[in-house]
Amino acid sequence: MKTLPDAAFSQGPIKVGQSISPEEAMDYCFDIARHGVGKVSPNPLVGCVIVDAEHRFISAGYHGRYGEAHAEQEAMNSVDKSKLKNATVYVSLEPCAHHGHTPPCAVKLAELPLKEVIYAIADPNPKVNGKGAEILRLAGIKCRLLEGYEDKAWEQNAFFFMRQEKEKSLVVGLKVGMTLDAKIANPGDERRWITNSRSRQLSHYLRLVYDAICIGARTVVADNPSLNPRETSFGDRMPWRVVLDPTLVALKERPLEGLNLLRAEPEKVIWLTARENRDSKLVEKLSSLGVCVRFLEVDKSMQFSAVQIVDAVEDFPIYSMMIEGGSSLYHCFLESGLLDRLHVFMSVGKLYGTGGLPLYPGFSEINLEPRRLSSYEIDKDMFFDIIL
Ligand SMILES: NC(=O)c1ccc[n+]([C@@H]2O[C@H](COP(=O)([O-])OP(=O)(O)OC[C@H]3O[C@@H](n4cnc5c(N)ncnc54)[C@H](OP(=O)(O)O)[C@@H]3O)[C@@H](O)[C@H]2O)c1
Repeated sequence: MKTLPDAAFSQGPIKVGQSISPEEAMDYCFDIARHGVGKVSPNPLVGCVIVDAEHRFISAGYHGRYGEAHAEQEAMNSVDKSKLKNATVYVSLEPCAHHGHTPPCAVKLAELPLKEVIYAIADPNPKVNGKGAEILRLAGIKCRLLEGYEDKAWEQNAFFFMRQEKEKSLVVGLKVGMTLDAKIANPGDERRWITNSRSRQLSHYLRLVYDAICIGARTVVADNPSLNPRETSFGDRMPWRVVLDPTLVALKERPLEGLNLLRAEPEKVIWLTARENRDSKLVEKLSSLGVCVRFLEVDKSMQFSAVQIVDAVEDFPIYSMMIEGGSSLYHCFLESGLLDRLHVFMSVGKLYGTGGLPLYPGFSEINLEPRRLSSYEIDKDMFFDIIL
């Protein structure tokens, strides 16, 4: 069992002048990198720490927003330049070597009188991989990986690495809260939470990690969710919200004025509905609020395929999307082969039996073939983070 991914920062702030070990410096890089959660996508989270020749902390920085300064630049901006001779730079990802919104960090670091640059993992981007390290070596600065950090670095930026490894622009995850017998709701008793408050806190953090959250129309009707990240200390940016509503049942059963998911930033809501609804007054009303309505072909059972859903979402600046249920939507994506990650919260003491709504209401056997599995105990719940 491991510490939860959103546990409080593992160490307090480090003071200027404080002596720190290489591991403390690197751990701090990971800690501060998380200030960029929800703000840097599709870029990775990155933290940087600079120590002087005696290994005393002199500065730190993190990538805080897409298009803005990288972690190394932030750390360099706030450093006392007189202390840089023979200093060491720690960074949670290999310094970049290419021109993007900002100049290459490796080139900027190479101009400093540093002794060494130590990073946690190589950048898989072919424009960078090994090239950042090469620029530094050519400038006479030692450059190496810190052993033992590769897994942590991969996990912190799983979406970034998965997109490169799988050569896809959108990573799709599925989050579920379920009982020991894999039931996601107990009809007639729908207001009750399945998992405990700490599990829910982590699931709110996940809403911050993903660019978009996708739900089915019946979940809108049953739960009227807000889909905003709450109870997390990492910020409150609204994710994109994607609603599957081919027959407009959500709008018919829930007056638009009372829909919680439209309360904040309705222009970041995508409503997927059937072409037949083009002239609907409800759609007109929805569009007038700024909601992005997209019309898709439906099959004989009034359903879209997972591929159609992903294609529609890829028109927007969305690089990661979390499927949040309910049962029909889980079914659609579990059978699609398009899932990259599962976040399973399980209340191990509860079983709903045959009356409960199943996670997977399908008939065919599915083999997801997990590549990585992490498990955590959260009070009396279990949490499984499964990379496919
Ligand atoms: N425990 C959890 O983690 C969790 C999470 C979310 C929801 N839930 C529970 O799940 C229940 C709702 O589940 P549900 O299965 O009844 O409904 P659902 O999946 O939320 O919504 C089903 C409806 O969404 C639309 N939809 C879903 N997949 C679609 C697709 N591939 N193409 C087109 N439309 C699609 C369809 O709308 P039409 O009806 O218009 O065809 C379908 O009837 C609620 O009780 C909710 O509380 C539990």
